[in-house]
Amino acid sequence: MPLEMSPFGCWGLPAALLALFCCPGSGEGFEVHMYPEQLVVEPGGSKLINCSTSCAQPQTGGLETALTKTLLESGAQWKQYLVSNISQDTVIHCYFTCFGNQKLKSLNISVFYPPKQVLLKLQPAWVAVGRSFTVECHVPAVKPLESLTLTLLRGQEALCNKTFARGDSGTRGATATHNSTAHREDGHHNFSCHARLDLRSLGGGIVHRVSEPQMLKVYEPRPDNQMVVIISVVSVLLFLFVTSILLCFVLGQHWRQRRMGAYGVQDA
Ligand SMILES: *[C@@H]1O[C@H](CO)[C@@H](O)[C@H](O)[C@H]1NC(C)=O
Ligand SMILES: *[C@@H]1O[C@H](CO)[C@@H](O)[C@H](O)[C@H]1NC(C)=O
Ligand SMILES: *[C@@H]1O[C@H](CO)[C@@H](O)[C@H](O)[C@H]1NC(C)=O
Ligand SMILES: *[C@@H]1O[C@H](CO)[C@@H](O)[C@H](O)[C@H]1NC(C)=O
Ligand SMILES: *[C@@H]1O[C@H](CO)[C@@H](O)[C@H](O)[C@H]1NC(C)=O
Ligand SMILES: *[C@@H]1O[C@H](CO)[C@@H](O)[C@H](O)[C@H]1NC(C)=O
Repeated sequence: MPLEMSPFGCWGLPAALLALFCCPGSGEGFEVHMYPEQLVVEPGGSKLINCSTSCAQPQTGGLETALTKTLLESGAQWKQYLVSNISQDTVIHCYFTCFGNQKLKSLNISVFYPPKQVLLKLQPAWVAVGRSFTVECHVPAVKPLESLTLTLLRGQEALCNKTFARGDSGTRGATATHNSTAHREDGHHNFSCHARLDLRSLGGGIVHRVSEPQMLKVYEPRPDNQMVVIISVVSVLLFLFVTSILLCFVLGQHWRQRRMGAYGVQDA
């Protein structure tokens, strides 16, 4: 039967072609790995990096970087390095050569600056009920900005969350402000600012820092100057009015008494 011959007759050629294109020698079917696959580090930090390959007998291999590296240990298919003094974002490469073919694996290293200080400012610190005040939170030198969220809190309640767009490679500060109108109960809570640097998408953890709590002093508004003037003028006018009425009354009384007295004298 022709069909029974098919393993060789029909599929043999494509299979051979496939094998030819995909793996012409045992040198191309290998892989290079780097562990960890993502790396985030504080400035000046050091990290262990393991470069490995699936190639059984790699000819050469190693780590390519401008950073200070130290080979700590190695096996037939791996090399472990200590990379130190990492001061800025960088890319490092791990390579192996297997039967004349070289393969690379790259790793982006991100340097982060944690929020070391979270500075909260209430402006003004004394505010009358109904007047506006501003809560401002500033975090100097934090990075990467796109991983940062600043939350302004009144007691446990979040007033606002602020996230940031991707910054340039430098370190900059971040600021969040919230404008509000003072209520009596604002004086009974502490205001605070919560900074959260979420490095999970870069292979790190979450760094939190909270500002010192601050209280707002809220007072009852005192009548302002214009009001005082109006009230004084009205009081004076009222006083004059009442006084004149009284005066008229008294004088009228007096005059009637005098006339009555005159009649009395006449009557007598
Ligand atoms: C490096 O990685 C390879 C492959 O995953 C592993 O066999 C080896 O033990 C690792 N070396 C160290 C020091 O962890
Ligand atoms: C670490 O890196 C910084 C900046 O790249 C450099 O000024 C400093 O000398 C380095 N320190 C060491 C111990 O290599
Ligand atoms: C590494 O960084 C480059 C550019 O900065 C980016 O295009 C690439 O996707 C990054 N790779 C990984 C694995 O995050
Ligand atoms: C701010 O974010 C926190 C947690 O991410 C959430 O619980 C809160 O409701 C948010 N508040 C506002 C005002 O968006
Ligand atoms: C808050 O008020 C100040 C001045 O009253 C203004 O400059 C600022 O833009 C306001 N901020 C917000 C977030 O509304
Ligand atoms: C506000 O914070 C201060 C300082 O931590 C604390 O002494 C005070 O009890 C707090 N007040 C309230 C209402 O939580």
